Parts: sequence; C-alpha cells; structure tokens
Amino acid sequence: MRLTHSLARLALCSAIMMAPFAAQAQSDENVKIGFIVKKPEQAWFINEQQAATAAGEELGFQVVRLGGEDGQEVLSAIDNLYSQGAQGFVICPPDVRLGPAIMNRAEQYGMKVITVDDQFVTSSGEPMEGVPHLGMSGTKIGMQVGEAIAAEMQARGWDMDEVAALRITNNELPTAVERTDGATQALIDAGFPEANIFDAPQQSTDTSGAFSAASPVLSQRGGFEHWVIYALNEESVLGGVRATEQYGLAPENVIGVGINGSGAAFAEFSRNNPTGFHGTVAVSSTMHGRQTAEDLYRWIAEDEQPPANTETTGTLMTRDNWQDVREELGL
Ligand code: GLA
Repeated sequence: MRLTHSLARLALCSAIMMAPFAAQAQSDENVKIGFIVKKPEQAWFINEQQAATAAGEELGFQVVRLGGEDGQEVLSAIDNLYSQGAQGFVICPPDVRLGPAIMNRAEQYGMKVITVDDQFVTSSGEPMEGVPHLGMSGTKIGMQVGEAIAAEMQARGWDMDEVAALRITNNELPTAVERTDGATQALIDAGFPEANIFDAPQQSTDTSGAFSAASPVLSQRGGFEHWVIYALNEESVLGGVRATEQYGLAPENVIGVGINGSGAAFAEFSRNNPTGFHGTVAVSSTMHGRQTAEDLYRWIAEDEQPPANTETTGTLMTRDNWQDVREELGL
C-alpha cells in the first residue's frame, strides 16, 4: 500500500517536473521552418527573409532561407527542409498555380504551410482558402498608385487627354491583376482616358521582364510626349522607366509609381538627379516576413491556428519623404 502510494507520488512529481521541460524543448530548440521565396535576389524578398530570421532569433526557432524560382526548385527545397527536420515553411511561390502540387508534397511530409505575398490558386483558378495567407490588399494599394499618379499629373499641369499610360501587366498572378486594375480604376476615376492606357505584359515580375515588355510599346506609341507608368511592383516600374530613358524621354516627362518600398526604390531616390520614378507605395516587407514566420512558429509549437487571410496596407513614399516612411515601416 505504502509502496504504491510512493510510486504514485513519484510519478506525479516527475510528471510535474517533466512537463515544463517538454514544452520548453519544443518551443525553444526543435522548431525549424523554411522561408522559400520566388526571387531571392529581389530587395523585397531579401528583407522579408531577414525579418523572418530575426523573429526566429528573438523567439527561439530556426529559419532556413531558400529560393524557389520554379516548380522543380520549390519541390527540392521542400525535400531539403524535410530532411533537415523542418516542420513547415512560409512560401511566396514562383507560380501560384503550383499550389496544389506544393501542398501535396507538404502533406506527405506532415509539414504546415503559410503563403506570403502571392496566394496559391486551385486548378480552377480560385484562391486556395485552406492555406493561411498574408499579403497586400492589392486593389487598395493599386488605387493609391493611381491616385498618386493623378495628383502628380495635376501638379505638373499635364492635360490627361495628351498623356499615355504604360500599364505593365502580369495576368497569371491575381495580386498583380488586382494592383494594376486598382491603379487603372483610380486613374479613370480621376478623368484619365481609358483609350490612352497601353498594356505591356511582362514574363517575369522584375526589372528586366518589365524593360523587355515596355520597350516595344513605347516605340509603337511614339506620338506621346508624356507618359505615366505602373505595374505590380517598383522593380517593374523601374524597368519601364529605364525603357523610357533608352527611348529618349526626359525624366520630367515621365511619372512612374511603384509598389513595395524596398532597396530598389531607396537606390533610385538616393540618386542626385531625379528620374521618371516618382514614388512607390511602401508596404512593410519586415512585417510580412516577421508575422508569417511567427504565425507558423506558434502553429507548430503551440498549435495556434494562424489567421486565414491577412491584408496589409501601404503608404506613399516619394523622394521627399522616403526616409521618414522607411523608418516608420521599419524597413
Ligand atoms: C509580389 C511581387 C513582389 C512584391 C510582393 C509583395 O510577389 O512580385 O515584388 O510586390 O508581391 O506582396
């Protein structure tokens, strides 16, 4: 009787002693997550991955930063993460239609997944609602771009009927469509003639993809003196601006407004002479990286389900205020 009693006490004591250790071990040491991005050399994604790593250092989990520029690379990144013992990953996919294939692989490995920036779509093109997502509110941010362009045209005293718009598009990526549609809507609301908007479809969401798309459009529409430029991100707007320079347009005849607020824009604002790149709607890539990494960590370590969909907002950044906005957004 006595013996059973002491054994029971012993068992109880060790359970009490072990419990905090077990929880500690899982939250502090064993959590490892991947952070896979489609364009690891783009300033936006560099910052996002760095912020995820910093969150890990602070909260006590490991972050493995990987690039996934096509489907094959993403799948091998997932294999690699699994073999390192990672329990999940945050991803900005190179093509949102890879969603089902990526989720298949992750589920085989029992890994948890959160998308950042670009949301997976199903085979019928609908957003994959079951995968938690954090991204920009594309339409609103796009509208801010259009409003900023309209205000600057007015400040320069341009007659909108005489202005051409270079709309650099990416129709495969829903957030890109939302952003450029939002900007178009705001321009039209401000009185811009729809007939003066010309599409330049880009193959890749970067400066060189946009440059190649923009150049032929400028030469086809040689009659316009004034141009405005918008796209899904500032890297692409910069490609358009570089194309206007090569075409021979003076910076004062060009108004380009981007989206992101990353190193690409800072470099442009830091030049001695202003270019046609007027501004960008800055969003906190620091917050995107940090929040998604932290959400995934809490999901793994504490079984806390992340929010299904988080939409982030932006602030217009120009040559005049970029340093203040940069500080405000922790960029
Ligand atoms: C897309 C773009 C990036 C960046 C992110 C932000 O992935 O390609 O440049 O704008 O969205 O959400």
